Amino acid sequence: MCINRRTLCLLYGACPASLLTGLFLLLNHGITEHIMRILSIETSCDETAVSIVEVAGEFPTATYTLLGNALFSQVDIHKEYGGVFPQVAKREHAKTLVPMLEKALREAELYEVGETAIDNETMLRETLSREAGLADDLLAFLARTTLPECDMIAVTSGPGLEPALWVGVSFAKALAQVLGCPVVPVNHMEGHILASLYDVEVDDALAPISFPALALLVSGGHTELVLMKNWGQYEKVGQTRDDAVGEAFDKVARLMGLPYPGGPEIGKRAALAREAKLPPYGEKVLPRPMVHSDDFDFSYAGLKTAVRNLIGDKTLTEDEKSALARDFEDAAIESLYTKTVKAVDHFGINTLIIGGGVSANNFLRQTFTEKLLATHPHIEVYLPHRHLSTDNSVMIALAGHAQLATARTAGAIAYIRADGNRSL
Ligand code: KG4
Ligand code: ZN
Repeated sequence: MCINRRTLCLLYGACPASLLTGLFLLLNHGITEHIMRILSIETSCDETAVSIVEVAGEFPTATYTLLGNALFSQVDIHKEYGGVFPQVAKREHAKTLVPMLEKALREAELYEVGETAIDNETMLRETLSREAGLADDLLAFLARTTLPECDMIAVTSGPGLEPALWVGVSFAKALAQVLGCPVVPVNHMEGHILASLYDVEVDDALAPISFPALALLVSGGHTELVLMKNWGQYEKVGQTRDDAVGEAFDKVARLMGLPYPGGPEIGKRAALAREAKLPPYGEKVLPRPMVHSDDFDFSYAGLKTAVRNLIGDKTLTEDEKSALARDFEDAAIESLYTKTVKAVDHFGINTLIIGGGVSANNFLRQTFTEKLLATHPHIEVYLPHRHLSTDNSVMIALAGHAQLATARTAGAIAYIRADGNRSL
């Protein structure tokens, strides 16, 4: 059943404390057993994304139907600067959120011309006061649109770029004030974990995993190994001591003069080099930092410096770029692989979940399936569908539902904050 918006407003009103009460009523009344509609928002870095997901059944066996999914990548804007500038990302999110909401609603066939009543315009403007132009855009949109019912808004609250995160968080709060529904502040990294388990092509469900599970999270800001003894129970057992692996891909690409974001470029070049069997670029093999250390940590700054030293002030030929991309990729993935297998053995892991932007890398996928399964045939390995590897809002809806089901949400919406350093 989809809870009626009017009923929710009557039940909880629109004040933050009563919305919190609403969340607990949702839990206590077992609404997760029925159909619920989640509106999810992601703005942690340079993707502005809004999804509408309908959930039937209970976590973790629910079916998640993706009704609408709108994503705008700011990559062409950031390309000019060779990286993401938080203030530029913030401005672009503020400009793009309302168009993405409209796009997701239209795709879901939930867009309806009309008007949405607003009880307290002053409060809505106050909520969006730091996001240039967003209050005006949203009010103009609501003046021509009847928003559909929604049971919950899931929004990324961290980790990520804090100015960028705030835009999504404020937008979620403003929409919650209008719709009278609760907001669940989602951990972006939990989103990546759930994205890897979501089978969007076959049954719209999460893979049934057996614990203990291990998640290898590899993105532009994170490289970590997370032990999961149960749903919602996360223990970080290893992490990078300096750069994240995605950051290393991006920086190395930049050193080679490849466009931002460098990860996919390195991947393509490395594949060319393997196919053409190009010889190694340097005489010495690149380092595999920390592969022999007595822990589950990683390090990528030294590898990046080694590449920088190899290039020096030379201008690389196309073949040299490809050979070096392959050599770097070999080293980067080997360190991920070695430490992950070590953790798999140490913790007696049955399920390995790999998530985050770098999980789109073909060589990583190949290594963690073919090579790992040759030595550990009993292990289930889950990787996200390609379009869910990098940042998206579908994963935020999934993680929001997981969080709701395992009752880890606390705090009235007035107290929900963006937290750039939020940890699992
Ligand atoms: O998860 P994500 O989309 O954003 C963050 O949360 O950081 O990850 C982005 C990172 C970037 O560093 C990007 O270069 C890397 O993922 N990436 C890749 C590939 N696609 C994206 N790295 C290697 N190979 C790829 N195919
Ligand atoms: Zn991410």
